Amino acid sequence: MSRISLSRHLITQQHAGTISADLRLLIEVVARACKAISHAVSKGALGDIMGEAGTGNIQGEAQKKLDVISNEILLEANEWGGHLAGMASEEMEHPYQIPGQYPRGAYLLLFDPLDGSSNIDVNVSIGTIFSVLRCPDGMAGTEEAFLQPGTQQVAAGYTVYGPQTQLILTTGNGVFGFTLDREQGSFVLTQENIQIPTTTKEFAINMSNQRHWQAPVQRYIGELLAGKTGVRGKDYNMRWIASMVADVHRILNRGGIFMYPRDNREADKPGKLRLMYEANPMSFIVEQAGGAATNGYQRILEIQPEKLHQRVAVFLGSKEEVAQVTQYHQTDL
Ligand code: AHG
Ligand code: MN
Ligand code: MN
Ligand code: MN
Repeated sequence: MSRISLSRHLITQQHAGTISADLRLLIEVVARACKAISHAVSKGALGDIMGEAGTGNIQGEAQKKLDVISNEILLEANEWGGHLAGMASEEMEHPYQIPGQYPRGAYLLLFDPLDGSSNIDVNVSIGTIFSVLRCPDGMAGTEEAFLQPGTQQVAAGYTVYGPQTQLILTTGNGVFGFTLDREQGSFVLTQENIQIPTTTKEFAINMSNQRHWQAPVQRYIGELLAGKTGVRGKDYNMRWIASMVADVHRILNRGGIFMYPRDNREADKPGKLRLMYEANPMSFIVEQAGGAATNGYQRILEIQPEKLHQRVAVFLGSKEEVAQVTQYHQTDL
Protein backbone atom coordinates (compact mmCIF):
# COMPACT_ATOMS: atom_id res chain seq x y z
CA MET A 1 0.00 0.00 0.00
CA SER A 2 1.45 3.39 -0.92
CA ARG A 3 1.62 5.73 2.02
CA ILE A 4 0.07 9.16 1.91
CA SER A 5 2.02 11.77 3.83
CA LEU A 6 0.46 14.86 5.40
CA SER A 7 2.19 16.94 2.68
CA ARG A 8 0.65 14.88 -0.09
CA HIS A 9 -2.78 14.98 1.58
CA LEU A 10 -2.58 18.77 1.83
CA ILE A 11 -1.38 19.18 -1.79
CA THR A 12 -4.36 17.07 -2.92
CA GLN A 13 -6.69 19.35 -0.92
CA GLN A 14 -5.05 22.41 -2.43
CA HIS A 15 -5.45 21.06 -5.97
CA ALA A 16 -9.10 20.29 -5.21
CA GLY A 17 -9.54 23.93 -4.21
CA THR A 18 -10.52 23.22 -0.58
CA ILE A 19 -7.46 24.97 0.94
CA SER A 20 -5.18 27.77 -0.22
CA ALA A 21 -1.41 27.41 -0.70
CA ASP A 22 -0.85 29.60 2.35
CA LEU A 23 -3.13 27.51 4.55
CA ARG A 24 -1.29 24.39 3.38
CA LEU A 25 2.03 25.99 4.37
CA LEU A 26 0.59 27.05 7.73
CA ILE A 27 -0.60 23.52 8.57
CA GLU A 28 2.74 22.04 7.48
CA VAL A 29 4.58 24.45 9.76
CA VAL A 30 2.29 23.69 12.72
CA ALA A 31 2.82 19.96 12.11
CA ARG A 32 6.59 20.49 12.03
CA ALA A 33 6.43 22.36 15.34
CA CYS A 34 4.35 19.53 16.83
CA LYS A 35 7.04 17.05 15.75
CA ALA A 36 9.58 19.12 17.67
CA ILE A 37 7.28 19.16 20.73
CA SER A 38 6.76 15.40 20.41
CA HIS A 39 10.54 14.97 20.38
CA ALA A 40 10.95 17.12 23.50
CA VAL A 41 8.10 15.26 25.28
CA SER A 42 9.68 11.88 24.58
CA LYS A 43 12.93 12.86 26.29
CA GLY A 44 11.21 12.97 29.68
CA ALA A 45 13.63 13.07 32.60
CA LEU A 46 16.56 12.76 30.16
CA GLY A 47 15.87 16.25 28.81
CA ASP A 48 15.42 19.50 30.68
CA ILE A 49 11.64 19.46 30.13
CA MET A 50 9.97 18.22 33.31
CA GLY A 51 8.70 20.16 36.29
CA GLU A 52 7.73 23.74 36.98
CA ALA A 53 8.85 26.75 34.95
CA GLY A 54 8.51 28.93 38.06
CA THR A 55 6.23 31.36 36.23
CA GLY A 56 2.46 31.86 35.98
CA ASN A 57 0.17 32.46 33.00
CA ILE A 58 -2.86 34.69 32.39
CA GLN A 59 -5.16 31.75 33.26
CA GLY A 60 -3.86 31.90 36.84
CA GLU A 61 -2.01 28.59 36.41
CA ALA A 62 1.57 27.74 37.35
CA GLN A 63 3.38 27.07 34.08
CA LYS A 64 5.28 23.84 33.55
CA LYS A 65 8.58 23.94 31.66
CA LEU A 66 6.91 22.10 28.80
CA ASP A 67 4.09 24.70 28.56
CA VAL A 68 6.73 27.37 27.97
CA ILE A 69 8.92 25.26 25.65
CA SER A 70 5.96 24.22 23.47
CA ASN A 71 4.72 27.80 23.24
CA GLU A 72 8.17 28.95 22.10
CA ILE A 73 8.49 26.16 19.54
CA LEU A 74 5.14 27.14 17.97
CA LEU A 75 5.96 30.86 17.92
CA GLU A 76 9.42 30.41 16.42
CA ALA A 77 8.24 27.97 13.75
CA ASN A 78 5.39 30.19 12.60
CA GLU A 79 6.61 33.77 12.85
CA TRP A 80 8.75 33.98 9.69
CA GLY A 81 6.77 32.00 7.07
CA GLY A 82 4.67 34.94 5.83
CA HIS A 83 1.36 33.12 6.28
CA LEU A 84 0.26 34.79 9.53
CA ALA A 85 -1.04 38.14 10.73
CA GLY A 86 -0.77 37.10 14.39
CA MET A 87 -0.82 34.32 16.97
CA ALA A 88 -2.67 33.88 20.25
CA SER A 89 -1.94 31.31 22.94
CA GLU A 90 -3.26 30.04 26.26
CA GLU A 91 0.17 30.92 27.66
CA MET A 92 0.29 34.59 26.53
CA GLU A 93 -1.83 37.47 27.81
CA HIS A 94 -1.84 39.34 24.50
CA PRO A 95 -1.64 38.24 20.86
CA TYR A 96 1.86 37.81 19.49
CA GLN A 97 2.68 40.35 16.80
CA ILE A 98 4.70 39.14 13.81
CA PRO A 99 8.13 40.84 14.10
CA GLY A 100 8.56 43.72 11.61
CA GLN A 101 11.32 42.05 9.56
CA TYR A 102 9.01 39.21 8.45
CA PRO A 103 6.20 39.32 5.88
CA ARG A 104 2.61 39.27 7.09
CA GLY A 105 -0.07 36.89 5.88
CA ALA A 106 -3.84 36.46 5.89
CA TYR A 107 -4.32 34.00 8.76
CA LEU A 108 -4.50 34.01 12.54
CA LEU A 109 -3.23 31.03 14.52
CA LEU A 110 -4.48 30.17 18.01
CA PHE A 111 -3.13 27.39 20.19
CA ASP A 112 -3.06 25.54 23.45
CA PRO A 113 0.62 24.61 23.11
CA LEU A 114 0.55 21.89 25.73
CA ASP A 115 -2.77 20.42 26.83
CA GLY A 116 -2.92 18.23 29.91
CA SER A 117 -0.08 19.90 31.82
CA SER A 118 -0.86 17.94 35.01
CA ASN A 119 0.03 14.73 33.14
CA ILE A 120 3.49 15.77 31.90
CA ASP A 121 5.46 14.58 34.89
CA VAL A 122 3.65 11.23 35.13
CA ASN A 123 4.12 10.12 31.48
CA VAL A 124 0.43 10.18 30.58
CA SER A 125 -0.85 11.35 27.16
CA ILE A 126 -0.75 15.09 26.51
CA GLY A 127 -1.27 17.17 23.37
CA THR A 128 -1.30 20.40 21.37
CA ILE A 129 -4.53 22.00 20.08
CA PHE A 130 -4.72 24.63 17.31
CA SER A 131 -7.27 26.70 15.44
CA VAL A 132 -6.93 28.87 12.32
CA LEU A 133 -9.01 31.95 11.45
CA ARG A 134 -8.78 34.47 8.62
CA CYS A 135 -7.61 37.91 9.68
CA PRO A 136 -10.44 40.32 8.78
CA ASP A 137 -9.52 42.73 5.96
CA GLY A 138 -7.84 45.89 7.11
CA MET A 139 -7.17 44.58 10.64
CA ALA A 140 -3.81 43.91 12.25
CA GLY A 141 -3.38 40.77 14.38
CA THR A 142 -4.71 42.49 17.50
CA GLU A 143 -7.12 40.95 20.03
CA GLU A 144 -10.14 42.36 18.17
CA ALA A 145 -9.23 40.43 15.01
CA PHE A 146 -9.28 37.13 16.92
CA LEU A 147 -12.77 37.59 18.38
CA GLN A 148 -14.62 35.56 15.75
CA PRO A 149 -17.08 32.71 16.39
CA GLY A 150 -15.82 29.16 15.84
CA THR A 151 -17.91 28.82 12.68
CA GLN A 152 -15.28 31.07 11.06
CA GLN A 153 -12.44 28.58 11.60
CA VAL A 154 -10.78 27.48 8.36
CA ALA A 155 -8.80 24.71 10.02
CA ALA A 156 -8.44 23.07 13.42
CA GLY A 157 -6.49 20.15 14.76
CA TYR A 158 -4.68 18.57 17.62
CA THR A 159 -1.68 16.37 18.18
CA VAL A 160 -1.75 13.71 20.85
CA TYR A 161 1.59 12.68 22.36
CA GLY A 162 0.70 9.19 23.53
CA PRO A 163 2.11 5.74 22.83
CA GLN A 164 2.12 7.10 19.27
CA THR A 165 2.12 10.73 18.18
CA GLN A 166 -0.97 11.38 16.07
CA LEU A 167 -2.23 14.48 14.31
CA ILE A 168 -5.97 14.94 13.81
CA LEU A 169 -6.96 17.60 11.31
CA THR A 170 -9.99 19.23 9.71
CA THR A 171 -10.14 21.97 7.12
CA GLY A 172 -13.94 21.78 7.02
CA ASN A 173 -13.94 18.80 4.72
CA GLY A 174 -14.07 15.82 7.10
CA VAL A 175 -11.58 14.71 9.75
CA PHE A 176 -8.29 12.99 8.92
CA GLY A 177 -5.83 11.25 11.23
CA PHE A 178 -2.05 10.96 10.73
CA THR A 179 0.49 8.93 12.67
CA LEU A 180 4.05 10.18 13.10
CA ASP A 181 6.58 7.85 11.52
CA ARG A 182 9.51 8.60 13.80
CA GLU A 183 12.07 6.97 11.48
CA GLN A 184 10.99 8.96 8.42
CA GLY A 185 10.09 12.06 10.41
CA SER A 186 6.77 12.48 8.63
CA PHE A 187 3.06 12.26 9.45
CA VAL A 188 1.37 9.44 7.50
CA LEU A 189 -2.37 9.31 6.79
CA THR A 190 -3.80 6.47 8.91
CA GLN A 191 -7.50 7.43 9.26
CA GLU A 192 -9.78 8.91 6.63
CA ASN A 193 -13.10 10.60 7.31
CA ILE A 194 -13.30 9.77 11.00
CA GLN A 195 -16.90 9.46 12.21
CA ILE A 196 -17.95 9.44 15.88
CA PRO A 197 -20.43 6.66 16.67
CA THR A 198 -23.84 8.28 17.38
CA THR A 199 -24.72 6.17 20.40
CA THR A 200 -22.38 5.35 23.23
CA LYS A 201 -22.01 3.88 26.70
CA GLU A 202 -19.07 6.02 27.83
CA PHE A 203 -18.81 9.38 29.50
CA ALA A 204 -15.94 11.59 30.64
CA ILE A 205 -16.25 14.13 33.46
CA ASN A 206 -14.24 15.04 36.55
CA MET A 207 -16.54 13.33 39.11
CA SER A 208 -14.78 14.98 42.04
CA ASN A 209 -16.69 18.18 41.24
CA GLN A 210 -20.09 16.47 41.57
CA ARG A 211 -21.14 18.42 44.69
CA HIS A 212 -20.67 21.69 42.77
CA TRP A 213 -22.63 20.78 39.62
CA GLN A 214 -25.82 22.54 38.66
CA ALA A 215 -29.20 20.76 38.35
CA PRO A 216 -29.12 19.77 34.63
CA VAL A 217 -25.74 18.03 34.98
CA GLN A 218 -26.76 16.37 38.28
CA ARG A 219 -29.84 14.99 36.53
CA TYR A 220 -28.00 13.81 33.41
CA ILE A 221 -25.10 12.09 35.23
CA GLY A 222 -27.54 10.65 37.78
CA GLU A 223 -29.37 8.94 34.94
CA LEU A 224 -26.15 7.55 33.43
CA LEU A 225 -25.08 6.18 36.81
CA ALA A 226 -28.47 4.51 37.35
CA GLY A 227 -27.49 1.98 34.67
CA LYS A 228 -29.70 -0.64 33.05
CA THR A 229 -32.65 -0.23 35.38
CA GLY A 230 -32.70 3.56 35.04
CA VAL A 231 -34.38 5.69 32.34
CA ARG A 232 -31.42 5.33 29.97
CA GLY A 233 -31.71 1.56 30.08
CA LYS A 234 -28.01 0.73 29.81
CA ASP A 235 -24.86 0.54 31.91
CA TYR A 236 -22.37 3.33 31.27
CA ASN A 237 -18.62 3.31 31.80
CA MET A 238 -16.52 6.31 32.85
CA ARG A 239 -13.06 7.49 31.73
CA TRP A 240 -11.21 10.68 32.73
CA ILE A 241 -7.63 11.19 31.60
CA ALA A 242 -7.53 14.93 32.50
CA SER A 243 -5.93 15.82 29.16
CA MET A 244 -8.73 17.11 26.94
CA VAL A 245 -6.83 16.00 23.84
CA ALA A 246 -6.59 12.40 25.05
CA ASP A 247 -10.21 12.27 26.27
CA VAL A 248 -11.52 13.74 23.00
CA HIS A 249 -9.27 11.44 20.98
CA ARG A 250 -10.80 8.40 22.65
CA ILE A 251 -14.30 9.73 21.99
CA LEU A 252 -13.51 10.48 18.36
CA ASN A 253 -12.45 6.88 17.91
CA ARG A 254 -15.00 4.94 19.90
CA GLY A 255 -17.77 7.35 20.84
CA GLY A 256 -18.71 8.93 24.15
CA ILE A 257 -19.40 12.31 25.69
CA PHE A 258 -16.85 14.71 27.18
CA MET A 259 -18.05 17.27 29.72
CA TYR A 260 -16.51 20.16 31.61
CA PRO A 261 -19.60 21.98 32.94
CA ARG A 262 -19.78 25.33 34.65
CA ASP A 263 -20.42 24.82 38.36
CA ASN A 264 -21.70 26.61 41.44
CA ARG A 265 -18.26 27.72 42.62
CA GLU A 266 -17.73 29.91 39.61
CA ALA A 267 -20.39 32.60 39.48
CA ASP A 268 -18.22 34.72 37.19
CA LYS A 269 -16.54 31.80 35.38
CA PRO A 270 -18.55 29.86 32.80
CA GLY A 271 -16.55 26.64 33.00
CA LYS A 272 -12.83 25.85 33.05
CA LEU A 273 -11.92 25.29 29.42
CA ARG A 274 -10.95 28.06 27.05
CA LEU A 275 -13.28 28.86 24.14
CA MET A 276 -10.64 29.96 21.64
CA TYR A 277 -7.87 27.39 22.25
CA GLU A 278 -9.74 24.32 23.42
CA ALA A 279 -13.53 24.38 22.89
CA ASN A 280 -13.70 25.89 19.39
CA PRO A 281 -11.09 23.72 17.66
CA MET A 282 -12.39 20.56 19.36
CA SER A 283 -16.00 21.46 18.51
CA PHE A 284 -15.08 22.00 14.85
CA ILE A 285 -13.38 18.58 14.73
CA VAL A 286 -16.22 16.83 16.57
CA GLU A 287 -18.92 18.35 14.32
CA GLN A 288 -16.91 17.46 11.23
CA ALA A 289 -16.83 13.89 12.54
CA GLY A 290 -20.64 13.82 12.83
CA GLY A 291 -20.80 14.62 16.55
CA ALA A 292 -22.15 17.64 18.41
CA ALA A 293 -20.77 20.30 20.79
CA THR A 294 -22.71 22.72 23.01
CA ASN A 295 -22.23 24.77 26.17
CA GLY A 296 -25.52 23.29 27.46
CA TYR A 297 -27.60 25.96 25.77
CA GLN A 298 -26.19 26.64 22.32
CA ARG A 299 -23.76 25.36 19.73
CA ILE A 300 -20.24 26.26 20.91
CA LEU A 301 -19.21 27.27 17.39
CA GLU A 302 -21.88 29.99 17.33
CA ILE A 303 -20.73 31.77 20.50
CA GLN A 304 -19.52 35.29 19.76
CA PRO A 305 -16.33 35.64 21.84
CA GLU A 306 -15.92 38.78 23.91
CA LYS A 307 -12.44 38.09 25.26
CA LEU A 308 -9.46 36.14 23.99
CA HIS A 309 -9.15 34.04 27.15
CA GLN A 310 -12.90 33.52 27.59
CA ARG A 311 -13.95 30.28 29.29
CA VAL A 312 -16.92 28.13 28.39
CA ALA A 313 -18.82 25.06 29.57
CA VAL A 314 -18.25 22.11 27.23
CA PHE A 315 -20.42 19.11 26.28
CA LEU A 316 -19.15 17.34 23.19
CA GLY A 317 -19.08 13.97 21.47
CA SER A 318 -21.76 11.52 20.36
CA LYS A 319 -24.85 13.35 19.12
CA GLU A 320 -27.49 11.54 21.14
CA GLU A 321 -25.80 12.22 24.50
CA VAL A 322 -24.98 15.85 23.76
CA ALA A 323 -28.61 16.40 22.70
CA GLN A 324 -29.86 14.88 25.96
CA VAL A 325 -27.73 16.95 28.34
CA THR A 326 -28.39 20.09 26.26
CA GLN A 327 -32.13 19.49 26.48
CA TYR A 328 -31.89 19.25 30.30
CA HIS A 329 -30.18 22.66 30.38
CA GLN A 330 -32.72 24.22 28.04
CA THR A 331 -35.75 22.92 29.94
CA ASP A 332 -34.24 24.01 33.28
CA LEU A 333 -34.28 27.68 32.23
P1 AHG B 1 -4.19 22.74 30.16
O1 AHG B 1 -3.25 21.67 30.60
O2 AHG B 1 -3.99 23.17 28.73
O3 AHG B 1 -4.25 23.93 31.11
O4 AHG B 1 -5.67 22.13 30.09
C1 AHG B 1 -6.11 21.30 31.14
C2 AHG B 1 -7.56 21.05 30.95
C3 AHG B 1 -7.93 19.92 30.02
O5 AHG B 1 -6.92 19.37 29.27
C4 AHG B 1 -8.53 18.85 30.92
O6 AHG B 1 -9.65 18.27 30.34
C5 AHG B 1 -8.87 19.58 32.18
O7 AHG B 1 -8.09 20.73 32.23
C6 AHG B 1 -8.63 18.76 33.40
O8 AHG B 1 -9.13 19.41 34.49
P2 AHG B 1 -9.18 18.75 35.97
O9 AHG B 1 -7.78 18.84 36.47
O10 AHG B 1 -10.14 19.62 36.70
O11 AHG B 1 -9.64 17.34 35.82
MN1 MN C 1 -2.81 25.45 31.24
MN1 MN D 1 -5.70 22.65 27.57
MN1 MN E 1 -2.27 24.14 27.92
